[in-house]
Amino acid sequence: MTSRRSGALAGTLTVPGDKSISHRALMFGLMTVGETKITGLLEGEDVLNTAKVCRQLGAKVERTGPGAWTVHGVGVGGLHQPAEPLDFGNSGTGARLMMGVVGANPIRATFDGDASLRKRPMRRALDPLELFGLTVVAQAEGGRLPITIEGPKNAIPVTYASPVASAQVKSAVLLAGLNAPGVTTVIEKEATRDHTERMLIHFGADVTVTPEGEHGRRIALVGQPELKPAPVVVPADPSSAAFPLVAAAIVPGSDVTITGVMMNPLRTGLLTTLIEMGADIQTLNARVESGEDVADLRVRGSKLHGVDVPAHRAPSMIDEYPVLAVAAAFAIGTTRMRGLHELRVKESDRLAAVAAGLAVTGVDHVIEGDDLIVRGTGRAPGGGPVETHMDHRIAMSFLVMGLAADNPVTVDDTTFIATSFPDFIPLMRRLGGELS
Ligand code: S3P
Repeated sequence: MTSRRSGALAGTLTVPGDKSISHRALMFGLMTVGETKITGLLEGEDVLNTAKVCRQLGAKVERTGPGAWTVHGVGVGGLHQPAEPLDFGNSGTGARLMMGVVGANPIRATFDGDASLRKRPMRRALDPLELFGLTVVAQAEGGRLPITIEGPKNAIPVTYASPVASAQVKSAVLLAGLNAPGVTTVIEKEATRDHTERMLIHFGADVTVTPEGEHGRRIALVGQPELKPAPVVVPADPSSAAFPLVAAAIVPGSDVTITGVMMNPLRTGLLTTLIEMGADIQTLNARVESGEDVADLRVRGSKLHGVDVPAHRAPSMIDEYPVLAVAAAFAIGTTRMRGLHELRVKESDRLAAVAAGLAVTGVDHVIEGDDLIVRGTGRAPGGGPVETHMDHRIAMSFLVMGLAADNPVTVDDTTFIATSFPDFIPLMRRLGGELS
């Protein structure tokens, strides 16, 4: 697919439901006896795979309308032995969180995924889960999928200081802790997205969160609660909003409003950074919906300048660096994005994939250690094809670039956009984006 320099983007749009919350809503439904009603669920392939796996583990999961789903679960500790392997497709979040859900149940399950997911490290989730008593029965080389695990009859509660700043690892531990007697504690050096903690509280679990060090947190969960069904309203995904947000900022004269975007402070790093770069973004109608902060974002075409993005901000914008790199190309001056080592283990090696994409589109950049440095000139020559490596965010980021580049930008594969943002192309066209 190719995107071309477009006239001013204009209009109001809503992006799909948050992917992180959508996965978790289904999993909490599975672990709750009674009916969990979900509205605004992201109906992207990643989340649909999680829904299928919840069924394999004993839940009744039904779609009652667009984004409206009900789950009748089996309760904490009540998971069924699945007959077939659990296939998570492209989704690391689905696989790692579900390892936690399954990990403290006395069942055996095989986890698998597509070629991209089979390359991603799973030991980061399995290491703490083994402390609960989980056994890894089989794994591909280097702790890769396919992996077969067997949970213990009686799980032991765990205290775990996570060596990686990863909400997926933290969540796997907390979700396993649900089925262990006593208190399970996770200590993270850098606070990561806290949707699991919020949802545990929403479903009636006893969770205590205290600050730890300069940027970290300690989360303590009392195990074996009886979760109570609670409705989940999924807010719009800030990581999907990032694409029209940057598109409107870099296409001159644009005026776009994105409604109901989740503003959880552990997810707003891109917004903070774009505003520092001089983007004209207004936060309107700030409100709380279902326990999450949301707001409408009005963004206009802006003159951007380069900034230094501190490493401690990375967890709050970990999925947004590819599109920030695009914004940085259109800024005047150098943008240094620090501490991006975690980007190497995403749907692709995103640091390498972004750098390669910048190279084929003629943007001056360099990788220094874990930092990506983009020397912005206010324009991008464009070109391609950009190799997307089965990574939805690489595809969307470079299609956004083409809307403001001197020449069209081509990406080699748009299939994986369906994992997180199935309507991305029609929505961008509706705003005036030229994509063909
Ligand atoms: C997610 C956490 C992040 C993020 C992913 C979703 C989550 O991964 O990249 O898209 O829902 O917990 P890590 O926790 O591995 O950084």
